[in-house]
Amino acid sequence: MKIVTNMSRGMSSLLLSKYACHRALLLKNVERCCSTQSFRFEDLKINLAMSHQLMRKPEASTLAFGATFSDHMFQVEWTHFGGWGIPQIVPLHNFQMHPGSKVFHYGQAIFEGMKAFRHANGKVTLFRPELNIQRLLSSSERSSLPTFDRDELLKCLKKLVSIDKQWVPDLDMSSLYIRPTFIGVEGTLGVSAAKTALLYIITCPVGPYFGKDITKPVSLLADPKFVRAWPGGVGHFKMASNYAPTLYVQKLAQEQGLDQVLWLSGADLQIAEGGAMNIFILLKTKSGGVELVTPPLDGTILPGITRKSVLELTRKWNEFTVSERTLTMNELLEAKINKRLLEIFLCGTACCVCPVKLIRFQGDDIEIPTMESGMKLYLRVLKTLTDIQYGRIKSEWSVDIE
Ligand SMILES: Cc1ncc(COP(=O)(O)O)c(C=O)c1O
Repeated sequence: MKIVTNMSRGMSSLLLSKYACHRALLLKNVERCCSTQSFRFEDLKINLAMSHQLMRKPEASTLAFGATFSDHMFQVEWTHFGGWGIPQIVPLHNFQMHPGSKVFHYGQAIFEGMKAFRHANGKVTLFRPELNIQRLLSSSERSSLPTFDRDELLKCLKKLVSIDKQWVPDLDMSSLYIRPTFIGVEGTLGVSAAKTALLYIITCPVGPYFGKDITKPVSLLADPKFVRAWPGGVGHFKMASNYAPTLYVQKLAQEQGLDQVLWLSGADLQIAEGGAMNIFILLKTKSGGVELVTPPLDGTILPGITRKSVLELTRKWNEFTVSERTLTMNELLEAKINKRLLEIFLCGTACCVCPVKLIRFQGDDIEIPTMESGMKLYLRVLKTLTDIQYGRIKSEWSVDIE
């Protein structure tokens, strides 16, 4: 690993022009690793930002989601002919790309969303990062982008976070959001996999996703006219192309004064996801037990890391039935009418856990009694997950940043 310090770079016009070169062009005259299989952490080159490039850190309490970026980013290029280039950590910068790049025309882009948390003692940890990297790899394969060694990316990612450690806010429920992104950049218009690609990571200090009151419940629009994903499609991959079509439906929900979309799928209107989050429904069973239900990973549901964690936690508690099964709108309505519906909550990296108070479906407003539930499962899950993330509970899910 080669680190260029502020002092040495300040004195070196050679290196300055090298940095300008990184800013100005991608995929030209790129230094190459010998390996086509993966870039390696040991080859990582680090160009630290000079003092005049360092950005002002806003008050943690004023952070809007994804609007402020930290000082550095990670990037590594790949070409079909030369394999992986040299991985680099450099000051955050704009890209210059050919307007014919595949990513602009055919949406050859995938991404991840993960977080670094600051504990009360100042320590910074990631939450189950190996799962995000594994998901990035599977999205990559499905998008005809190249693969890489997951441990090498994790080491580079940890280094990036440790360099920008000061950007991890110390306010409760705040964190550093990490956005690994992988795009096809070849500037040709044929509908084919790009022969050049760029993997990069940017990071943003963020506050709570839905505002200061982290237990404020949300309302959902369930409109069977729209689907997010379908059997045989790519709903279970984190492809950028899955998200643009949702923006219009989200706008329709907001125009009705609702917060998010409840995605339904299939002719029988199966409950799928809420916004860009997985969904959990807590029911009293007909035989008097309690069941926590989330839709199964049938290829239409994003395999959320928070979803997996909620399933693992609640199964470990072993206090009620935990099911991955199909649940239709009809079953939900029947449970509501018969007072068997206890809670609904959404979950994902951005918000952690978010209770649901209402679903608008075919002109009717279905009140969801989450906030009145005696069990308050959403709160218990939220508390346990955030206690782990902020280091109040020791867990192997927390991975240290050195
Ligand atoms: C469509 C969708 N569903 C669910 C999730 C939740 O996944 P995770 O818990 O890994 O953030 C996300 C966020 O990544 C998402 O975009």
